Amino acid sequence: GSPSLVDTFGRHHNYLRISLTERCNLRCFYCMPEEGIELSPKQNILSNDEIIRLAALFVKSGVTKIRLTGGEPTIRKGIVDLVARLSALREYGLKSIGITSNGLILHRHLPSLVENGLTHLNLSLDTLDPFKFEIMTRRMGHEAVLKTLNMALATPILKTKMNVVVIKGLNDSEVLDFVEMTKDQDLSIRFIEFMPFTGNKWDKAKMVPSAELLSTISAQHPGITKAADELNDTARSYRIPGYRGSVGFISSMSDHFCSSCNRLRLTADGQIKVCLFDAKEVSLRDQMRMGVDDATLLQTIGRAVRGKNEKHAATAPMRIIQSRSALGLLRAHRTK
Ligand code: GTP
Ligand code: 5AD
Ligand code: SF4
Repeated sequence: GSPSLVDTFGRHHNYLRISLTERCNLRCFYCMPEEGIELSPKQNILSNDEIIRLAALFVKSGVTKIRLTGGEPTIRKGIVDLVARLSALREYGLKSIGITSNGLILHRHLPSLVENGLTHLNLSLDTLDPFKFEIMTRRMGHEAVLKTLNMALATPILKTKMNVVVIKGLNDSEVLDFVEMTKDQDLSIRFIEFMPFTGNKWDKAKMVPSAELLSTISAQHPGITKAADELNDTARSYRIPGYRGSVGFISSMSDHFCSSCNRLRLTADGQIKVCLFDAKEVSLRDQMRMGVDDATLLQTIGRAVRGKNEKHAATAPMRIIQSRSALGLLRAHRTK
């Protein structure tokens, strides 16, 4: 990679998350208020051409992995074309194109997305109960998401993971049911700790620490063992003997993974964001629309990357949870 994607802590950034839209067709209570969020004017959103121009610059600077996010990325028009054009960047070193989706309408485009180069899907689904689905997402559509899930599982070349945000008293009773889904299916289920975002009614009492989930699962499946994690993975993975899939934990709250962070983000309105928890954003869109050349854009990107902090502060006010009950399977927690 080129030096522009290395920060002052020596972290190399080879993973770019591109938000395709701020809009979403669900209203998960932990993510968005009922009325939705304030949207940027349409003309402020990057065009496909602008996204491809920036993606090409990032890939030529060392990005090997792109993930499309949102809002809900599938509601953007022209997504299949975008994936096809991103796929052409393989020539410059791009290895994978993923999408994080709620799956509500993804089933419509999934076959053509895969045909055009989509390699990874992270499907968000927090409950197997249609009524709870409605409570958590404030919308209908559970069946449609299951349709997407089954379609994905029937597409072996697509690597599929499922994201489950665990909320105490709501879906924490379903954890073992989710684990059973990995028995016969090549599916990686990841339980995510509920994170505080402004206005999402975060409450520590509603957060279930990964260590607690792991001990619940271990009680049922004593043979569970730590599996190898991919470098820079957000999740710690485990395997249950005889099960095809895997179970992982994204412990954003109890054990952040800032020291190995390899991610950069591009917002739907064209800002580069070097950390999920950092408000600082630099507009690449404005520069592009002023007509600057690629070298200037790269300089701007490099400056933003070098301004990246060592770690985020979201865990600071929390008491860090120790994983005594969890058979020491979780990595030791860093206290700040
Ligand atoms: P992979 O590409 O499969 O590794 O996906 P991912 O886990 O990076 O991304 P996904 O979009 O599936 O996000 C799952 C969860 O990871 C989110 O809910 C967040 O909790 C967490 N996450 C993703 N990116 C970051 C990040 O930059 N910082 C922190 N703290 N958490 C993140
Ligand atoms: N805490 C944890 N995970 C969250 N997500 C959205 N909001 C939160 C939150 N407050 C998850 C979604 C999706 C992933 C990209 O982020 O459920 O799976
Ligand atoms: Fe947020 Fe994803 Fe739920 Fe939409 S589906 S409200 S983006 S968590």
